[in-house]
Amino acid sequence: MLKTAVIGAGSMGRHHVRNYAEIPQCELIGVADPDEGRSELAEKHGCAFYTDYRALLAQKPDLITIAAPTTLHYQIANDALDAGCNLLIEKPVSDDLDKARALMQKARDRQLKLAVGHIERFNPAVMELKRIIDSGELGEVLSVNNLRVGPYHGRILDTGIILDLGTHDVDLISYLFNDRCHSVFATATKRKHNHEDHAVLQLSFGNGHTGIIETSWLAPYRARNVFIVGTKHFALCDLANQLILVYDDNPEGGNLLAGLRPVPEGEPLKNELTSVIANVVDDTEPLCTAEDSIYALSVCMAALKSVDSGSSQVVG
Ligand SMILES: NC(=O)c1ccc[n+]([C@@H]2O[C@H](COP(=O)([O-])OP(=O)(O)OC[C@H]3O[C@@H](n4cnc5c(N)ncnc54)[C@H](O)[C@@H]3O)[C@@H](O)[C@H]2O)c1
Repeated sequence: MLKTAVIGAGSMGRHHVRNYAEIPQCELIGVADPDEGRSELAEKHGCAFYTDYRALLAQKPDLITIAAPTTLHYQIANDALDAGCNLLIEKPVSDDLDKARALMQKARDRQLKLAVGHIERFNPAVMELKRIIDSGELGEVLSVNNLRVGPYHGRILDTGIILDLGTHDVDLISYLFNDRCHSVFATATKRKHNHEDHAVLQLSFGNGHTGIIETSWLAPYRARNVFIVGTKHFALCDLANQLILVYDDNPEGGNLLAGLRPVPEGEPLKNELTSVIANVVDDTEPLCTAEDSIYALSVCMAALKSVDSGSSQVVG
């Protein structure tokens, strides 16, 4: 049995708690959160509750999810690595590139696993979309355009939308291209939040391939869509509803024909945790590496510099 625990049991952490409680390979030993109200979650799943995460670390969990606010990830992860725990840190890995790199190095030095929750890779719709792209069915993929917009929920106070939501799409677009972008140009505005709350990023890859990200906390309508232009076909993926449409030529002319592709059912977080657990227990290849998360953070940091400078920034 893998002893698992969760630090930070808010909106995202509570789903980690539920999944660890459900996965037969795991024994959920504790939840830590300074908000005493979160103890109900521990009670519900029959595990210990701590208001100080260091008391939880003293119980020596094998694998911990860190789902506290992003600006706390480094301190908590650093302490957890010192305590000998394997880690799944919610995205973004940190708000600071040097600190993220230091965590990766420390995990390597201590031979501990460090995963970061780039959950979209584990979305069944993305798994199928990736299979379609890699099969060559769409032809050469020229652009991937992600729209991730919705109303602001008021929870994320410590970072802006580029780090909080843009990270998902930087990782997802790069994963779909199987490539890393070399430069980024970004614009952003700040209307209701203390950081930027609407941003558009243009990611440049080799061979003229382009990724576009529009992400917003100002839109009244919630959308999580990926549009793909290939040289043979166009595809649309609705990440929230786990739907894929591939548009084929209509031999009779006129409108394109859209074919809905079957997507297997599944909860992205359960898929992610299953993969992380296999990596910890059986040393299987992770689908998303710590280096991938540091790359995603470096693109977001370059995007923030681009917003400030008004010019394109090299990633690296
Ligand atoms: N993968 C995803 O799709 C996804 C979705 C949402 C959030 N996130 C990430 O998860 C993290 C948390 O976001 P959220 O939306 O759950 O926020 P949230 O505010 O709902 O939850 C954060 C929780 O952390 C707790 N906390 C604060 N200080 C702590 C400390 N010192 N030790 C332990 N717990 C502490 C808070 O009391 C709160 O319960 C962020 O990094 C965010 O980017 C990821």
